Amino acid sequence: CQASSPVSSRSYLVDGKVDGKDTRSCKRGQGLIKSGERTYLPFKGKTMAMIFAKPSMRTRVSFETGFVLLGGHALYLGPDDIQMGKREETRDVARVLSRYNDIIMARLFAHQDILDLAKYATVPVINGLTDYNHPCQIMADALTIIEHIGQLEGTKVVYVGDGNNIVHSWLSLASVIPFHFVCACPKGFEPDEKTVEKARQTGISKIEITSDPKEAVRGADVVYSDVWASMGQKEEAAYRRQAFQGFQAMFGIKNLVRKKKIEKVDTALMELAGPQAHFMHCLPAERGVEVTDEVIEAPNSIVFPQAENRMHVQNAVMLHVLGL
Ligand code: CP
Ligand code: NVA
Repeated sequence: CQASSPVSSRSYLVDGKVDGKDTRSCKRGQGLIKSGERTYLPFKGKTMAMIFAKPSMRTRVSFETGFVLLGGHALYLGPDDIQMGKREETRDVARVLSRYNDIIMARLFAHQDILDLAKYATVPVINGLTDYNHPCQIMADALTIIEHIGQLEGTKVVYVGDGNNIVHSWLSLASVIPFHFVCACPKGFEPDEKTVEKARQTGISKIEITSDPKEAVRGADVVYSDVWASMGQKEEAAYRRQAFQGFQAMFGIKNLVRKKKIEKVDTALMELAGPQAHFMHCLPAERGVEVTDEVIEAPNSIVFPQAENRMHVQNAVMLHVLGL
């Protein structure tokens, strides 16, 4: 851990002992995280209901695994189980689950549904993504930036793509931590205006919305991408691919060769940004669409530690909301 990361305060996740053996020589992401006797079990005897109206790998597995590793029991409730708002009203789901479970985590379509869940539940409700935002992802992203760059404050984070739920959460983060956030998106695909305005009004961060990705990435510490068609928008995928064409050129091999005459196309985008730039993506990625294989597999891509950090930040969130 020490070799790859300046942050190493999570031995409880590696060997199960907060004050146990020295784990600093372990390699995260290579299996050790799963092994060993665990004595730190703050969630012992507790249960978490996880409602998924949409598909998931990272959110489901990181929440379930994290909760179980710390002693709890997590229940997966898929789209056919609860059918919130269809089979049963959200306010009823909230009150019934609160009587069985200590936490509710939910991935939903309409943002209003998570607000309603939180309103009627009597236990903490954690947002695992809605059409509007994805706060757990952005907390993991912030931790990853701190681990790889040293700090988030003062860095330049450039998001290239659709002005979607990920961008709204970046804007929330920019409302509490000072950094330079740029969203480069095609015209007509900008983030929600009110959310941008609200973040700007805090005066905490420099926030720019532009349709010029080439200019935007210059000097970036992080270049960040996400799918052009989010869950719930897949029927728009073909139309969106058309609309985002200029943006694919930033990542596309042929287009870069043709337009920019850059030979090292695998690192072409990052060359525009500069040698300091890291590549991030919340995943799942559509390789060859919003990002090429070369960019995602390059040494400066930190997408996998980023994915791993979902579990660590969510464990911290769950400890916090349970007052542990
Ligand atoms: N990044 C993320 O939330 O991934 P999943 O959709 O797989 O949960
Ligand atoms: N914007 C994407 C994020 C997936 C983690 C979506 O909502 O599908």
